[in-house]
Amino acid sequence: MKTIFNSILLIVIVLVIGSIRLSNGEPPPSPPCKLYNAGAKCQLAGQPCENEGCIYGTHCFNGTCVKNTELNGKCNATLKDKEGNSLECGSLFGCANQKCTIEQYLENGDACTDSYQCLGTLECTGGKCTLKNNTCKDSNDCPYDHYCNEKNHSCTPELALGDNCTQKSQVRECRLGSRCLNGKCVAYFSLKEGDPCLWTEGITIFDLCDIELGLYCDGNGTKKCEKIPSSATNESVNCIGLGCNPFEKCYCVNGSSTTKGTCHPFTVVSLEDRTKLSLV
Ligand SMILES: *[C@@H]1O[C@H](CO)[C@@H](O)[C@H](O)[C@H]1NC(C)=O
Ligand SMILES: *[C@@H]1O[C@H](CO)[C@@H](O)[C@H](O)[C@H]1NC(C)=O
Ligand SMILES: *[C@@H]1O[C@H](CO)[C@@H](O)[C@H](O)[C@H]1NC(C)=O
Ligand SMILES: *[C@@H]1O[C@H](CO)[C@@H](O)[C@H](O)[C@H]1NC(C)=O
Ligand SMILES: *[C@@H]1O[C@H](CO)[C@@H](O)[C@H](O)[C@H]1NC(C)=O
Ligand SMILES: *[C@@H]1O[C@H](CO)[C@@H](O)[C@H](O)[C@H]1NC(C)=O
Ligand SMILES: *[C@@H]1O[C@H](CO)[C@@H](O)[C@H](O)[C@H]1NC(C)=O
Ligand SMILES: *[C@@H]1O[C@H](CO)[C@@H](O)[C@H](O)[C@H]1NC(C)=O
Repeated sequence: MKTIFNSILLIVIVLVIGSIRLSNGEPPPSPPCKLYNAGAKCQLAGQPCENEGCIYGTHCFNGTCVKNTELNGKCNATLKDKEGNSLECGSLFGCANQKCTIEQYLENGDACTDSYQCLGTLECTGGKCTLKNNTCKDSNDCPYDHYCNEKNHSCTPELALGDNCTQKSQVRECRLGSRCLNGKCVAYFSLKEGDPCLWTEGITIFDLCDIELGLYCDGNGTKKCEKIPSSATNESVNCIGLGCNPFEKCYCVNGSSTTKGTCHPFTVVSLEDRTKLSLV
């Protein structure tokens, strides 16, 4: 159930940076959005759309936002969105045997009846989710605590904290909750003020420094964990097209403007900000 652990970790990280309801059109603000990402659309079921821009839980079909099909409802597996998810079943379910179904939830070695149940590229063979051709494509194909070794495409035990690792971020060789930093597996949010933290490919400024202490990785400057600066972008600045500082996000004014937006912090969010962003 590695993806579940991944999801939990992701949720924790997203919660930490306090932007869970407002990024990527994920869980819907309800009632319909008041504020959302600049440039995003927020069309409801029945309203017009152009391939995208429909609110979470709906999809764009033939120029109109349509409610997603429910679990066990009929679907057409050839209809997919940009991310390759079933268009009609949405991101939560897949379309298998012409029904919206929970798919890809069994891992390597789990008992199965059909391949759509198995994670990654695993196949249901002899009643078990099994590697195809005895090779893995990515870590979803491997049992818990294992990653897919890019070199020989075999499932290999993950490394422990402090073990030697390579810098390749796409290979999850360090165990869940840790990252490869300068050749060693380091736990997320474990570094203190002044610790070297140079971020590399796949590591963000918030991954490794202790964000509870208000730290981020100043990889462009001191290359150490530093306090997040408190200076905010002036509210009179229109951030659409201009952007905000790395600790803020640009949201459109009144949830409707596509030309005017203001910066809001997403790290240490004050009650005032939370109210403004309709998070409370
Ligand atoms: C798409 O919409 C047009 C007009 O809006 C309609 O004539 C057509 O039947 C629709 N196609 C499908 C597949 O629903
Ligand atoms: C599924 O969708 C494709 C593409 O729109 C279409 O050609 C095909 O007829 C559909 N299949 C069924 C069973 O509706
Ligand atoms: C199966 O794996 C071997 C190496 O383990 C590889 O040489 C071969 O091309 C693979 N076959 C298929 C069909 O992927
Ligand atoms: C693949 O490589 C890893 C590390 O390089 C090694 O531990 C493992 O035994 C190899 N597996 C196979 C099947 O060769
Ligand atoms: C880890 O890397 C260091 C430095 O390259 C090396 O001295 C050490 O032997 C390595 N340890 C293991 C267990 O491979
Ligand atoms: C680091 O600096 C580069 C070049 O000035 C800039 O493009 C990039 O956005 C900066 N990254 C962060 C995280 O501040
Ligand atoms: C923000 O900008 C406005 C207009 O330029 C200015 O009057 C105001 O003092 C600025 N606020 C802060 C906190 O800098
Ligand atoms: C936001 O919407 C309210 C009510 O619709 C309106 O009174 C206000 O002027 C709007 N603010 C901006 C900056 O557009």
